[in-house]
Amino acid sequence: MGQSREPLVYIDGELYPKSQAKVSVFDHGLLYGDGVFEGIRVYDGLIFKLKEHIDRLYNSAKVLRLRIPIDKDTMINDVVKTVRANGFRDAYIRLVVTRGVGDLGLDPRKCERPSVIVIVEHLEPILGKGEREYGVSVIISSTRRDPVYATSHEVKSLNYLNSILAKIEAIEAGADDAIMLDSRGFLSEATGANLFIVRDGKLFTPPVTAGILPGITRAVVIEIAGRLGIPFIERDLTPVELMTADEAFVTGTGAELVPIGFVNKLPINDGRPGPVFKRILEEFNLVKRDPRNGVKAL
Ligand SMILES: Cc1ncc(COP(=O)(O)O)c(C=O)c1O
Repeated sequence: MGQSREPLVYIDGELYPKSQAKVSVFDHGLLYGDGVFEGIRVYDGLIFKLKEHIDRLYNSAKVLRLRIPIDKDTMINDVVKTVRANGFRDAYIRLVVTRGVGDLGLDPRKCERPSVIVIVEHLEPILGKGEREYGVSVIISSTRRDPVYATSHEVKSLNYLNSILAKIEAIEAGADDAIMLDSRGFLSEATGANLFIVRDGKLFTPPVTAGILPGITRAVVIEIAGRLGIPFIERDLTPVELMTADEAFVTGTGAELVPIGFVNKLPINDGRPGPVFKRILEEFNLVKRDPRNGVKAL
């Protein structure tokens, strides 16, 4: 099933073949990036951490005063139905809620009804596989993370220009991705993934106050570290602490767990994935297939 025909896309309760899945040019999601989204993975038919993603989606919408027209249980059912209709056992789900169709002004009150979109597709890990000889190369971007007192990345909104500018800078520098600093100059996160570093056997990550998206993969990694007895500290971190770390890696649904080999061309240790990363990745590969960690769709 799902091999020979087009993927099916859910829009407001109906399923459409991919080529016919369309929204209005007057949707404020397109005109202003006004909307929220989630990226979710399906591992062997298990929609990983679906409830956590749905909770974050509704929290993002709450901050934007965006009233999602269906309740959480219906949303979960509709996501499960869309995965089943596509029949992909391993997939990436893009769940989008746009502000809906309005006029050409900003006023969200002109948009009558938000649209709910569920896309299910195959997606390879966006920075390549975690099992690799050398880690990815990153630059420290000159574009600072949007601060928590403005368009904070705590809200997973459709406006990703802050990350896109940093990604362009990374591409132009010949690097795989960018690490962004917060408005104070402390480490924040990568363009679409959270950052961890290892120093003296201890695991560190920046706090939400550094402008990060509180990642669901990040929470899983913190939980795994606790279980493995790896000391974990959440605190502000400096660029030098990254450049002189024993290990560094990023985490996210799209990226999964990816070691960093080079920062501004400086190797992290010998540029290869380190032992703490490898141990956490091994555990993550078990956790992501454990039925207790998601909703079974297939
Ligand atoms: C800016 C940003 N930070 C971090 C993450 C990681 O979050 P999660 O692990 O919930 O996918 C994402 C999304 O994948 C993101 O877009």
